This record gives sequence, C-alpha cells and structure tokens, in this order.
Amino acid sequence: MNNFEWIYHKLYGIESAGVLRDLPSPFSTYDVSRGTFVGYEGKEFLIFCSNDYLGMTKNAEVLEELRKSVYTGGSGASRLVSGNFAQHVEFEEFISEVFGLSQTGRSVLLFNSGWAANIGVISSLADEESEIFSDQLNHASIIDGCRLSKAKITVFPHLDLDFLEISLRKSTAKFKLVVVDSIFSMDGDLAPLEDLRYICDKYGAVLYVDEAHAFGVVGKTGRGLQEFLGVQGDVSVYTLSKAVGLYGAFVIAPRKVIDYIRSTARSFIFSTAIPPYICSAAIKSISIILRADELRAKLAENVSILIDGIRQKLGVELKTSSHIIPFIIGGELDALKVYEMLFDRGVFVRAIRYPSVPRGTARLRITVSAVHTKDQIQRFASELFDVMSSINVSRGT
Ligand SMILES: Cc1ncc(COP(=O)(O)O)c(C=O)c1O
Repeated sequence: MNNFEWIYHKLYGIESAGVLRDLPSPFSTYDVSRGTFVGYEGKEFLIFCSNDYLGMTKNAEVLEELRKSVYTGGSGASRLVSGNFAQHVEFEEFISEVFGLSQTGRSVLLFNSGWAANIGVISSLADEESEIFSDQLNHASIIDGCRLSKAKITVFPHLDLDFLEISLRKSTAKFKLVVVDSIFSMDGDLAPLEDLRYICDKYGAVLYVDEAHAFGVVGKTGRGLQEFLGVQGDVSVYTLSKAVGLYGAFVIAPRKVIDYIRSTARSFIFSTAIPPYICSAAIKSISIILRADELRAKLAENVSILIDGIRQKLGVELKTSSHIIPFIIGGELDALKVYEMLFDRGVFVRAIRYPSVPRGTARLRITVSAVHTKDQIQRFASELFDVMSSINVSRGT
C-alpha cells in the first residue's frame, strides 16, 4: 500500500480540472538593452505578466548599489537573534523619513516578503476576541493571515460596502479589523479607501491596507493609493517585490502597534532576516521611484496604448483602473491554450486559474510596464488578436 495514494488521487483531480501548476521553463538571461525581452533557451519573449511595473529590476543604479552592498550573504539569524544589521535599521529609518512617521506617531517594521508581512501582522493583531472583515478578492496572503488568527472571519462580497457596514454594525468583537488590497492583484480595481475610512471610523474598526501593487506606481511620489486619495489606513503593508524590483516588505502602523507586532508576529520572529544588501538596494530603488514622475507617466501612457490596441484589434473594451488588466477567458483549459499559443509566438503571459481567481474566471492577467515600447504593446495586441481568432474560446471582458 502506497501511503501517498490519496495524494496521487488528488493530484489527478487537479490535473483533470486544468489547474495543475507547473513551472515555466526558466529564463536564463535578460537583455536590458531590449527592455522587457527575456532570452531563454536561445529564444526571446515579450513579457506581459511581470510585476516589475517600472523596470526597476534592471535599473543600473540599483544593481550597482547591490554590488557595492554585498558584504555578507545571508543575515544568519532572525533580527531578534544575531541577524539585525545596520542596513536593516537604515532602511527603516529611511522609510520613516519618506513617510514622515515620527511626526504622526507611527513606525515601521521590515518583513521578509509581502506574504510574511500579511500572515504575520494579521495573525498577530487579531485574536479570538476579534473579528476580521476581509474583501472576497483579497490576496491569498491576507486570506491565510486571517486563517492563522483565531478571529472570527467575515468575508464580504468584493467592495460591497453595504454588506460591510451591516456586518460591522452587528459585530460585538472587541477588535474589528477591515482588510483590503488597495489595488486588487488579479482584477486591478481600486479599493474605495475614503469610504472605507469613513465606515471604519464610524464603527470603531481598524483599517488595514495592502499597497503591494500601488507602491511605486500610484500617488504623486508613488507612495500608494493612500497618498493618491489623501487617506490614511491604520496599518499599511508595502512590498519591495513589485514596482521596487527587489524582495521584502514593510509595515507601517502606530508606534506601539509596531512594538506589539515585533513581539508577536511569528513570521518576523521565527525567520532569518532578509539579506542586508537588499535593504541598501531598496533605499536606492525607492529614492529613484519617489522622483520617477516620468516613469509613472509612461506607465499610464502604456496602459492606454494597450487598452486602445486591444479595442482596435479585438473589439473588446477592457476595464481597468490600473496597470493590472484582466483579460477574462473563463475556462481553465481555454486560458491555458491561449497562454500556450502566445508562448509559441514569443509572447509570455501566464494563464491565471483557480484558486488564484474564482473558478470559471480564468484569465490572462496582463500587466504593462513603463519600459515596454509602443511597438511591443502593439505587437502584443496583434498576437492576442491572432490567437483569439484562431481558436474557439470565449472573449475577454
Ligand atoms: C496584494 C498582495 N499582497 C501581498 C503579496 C505578497 O507579496 P510578496 O510577493 O512580496 O510576498 C502579493 C503578491 O503577489 C500581492 O499581490
């Protein structure tokens, strides 16, 4: 009797449903001079699914800073043991200055990733006497953070503020936490932070905002949707892995809340600190991003070029409020087919399927970057048109 028989059976189920995850063949080189083309197995691909929205993964100054800052490999331990390096602290001081934290009684704590931040912070703040109100389309790391906490979890339909308000009114929990992505990672739509702020204040709830996809891109200096709308959440998470082009994350909250998180968030306490050189590179990258008005304008222009291109070529009016543009196909296998056909044509956009998105809404999650050229975007629209017209699958909306 094979002890894994049950697992093999479940694997077969995943495969038959068209949601088996396999890794794409690895990229070997990246040709900076060609912008977003990536060479792999000798072939070049045009990428339209990276979160490197501003091209910072290849920024020469950031790469130079990385080279200069590597005086140790790993941190060797958690920051609470022997892994707390000057660069970690410098990074937090830098963020404190950028966000004017000391003037507002707030503080910052570095995490190893956005995932680690969300699971650590949410499960640290919410206990058995708490209730978490989480948007249905929140990122998986938020969902898992909620599950790890002992709180009652109320998932509200996507952006249904009436539902949220009714639930908050009924709640008798000692601590109420409303959690949203500021830009939803798979749909690209925005959380109405002003309304959420109002509702949270009305019902004594804490507003938790994950700025993963807005940081660097949205707001006058790229500090996110909160900067853009002039609204402040109580707890905010920012990743360094998307527009900043590196890895890691940080959380901003009132100073004593940060003290509490530092002492209770298990993903902070029990994990080796992020390599210190990442922090030096992140300071460089964020310093550039704060002044990167042109890159942000170029990104916005590229989004318009893409939307126009798809409208002209496919007759489809894609809806988006950001640089994340969902092209819904529906069926899991259909989405895979579209991905594979684009791949054969040298265009790389992975199919996003359940459980990353609800069943039956499999899609291409198209992302543009500030370093795409107009020609590249137009070529993408043409290739997508050719693929969609040559197979019998329903169209994106
Ligand atoms: C909204 C959101 N939060 C958090 C994360 C996790 O961030 P990281 O990739 O830094 O772990 C992601 C990643 O895609 C995300 O989309």
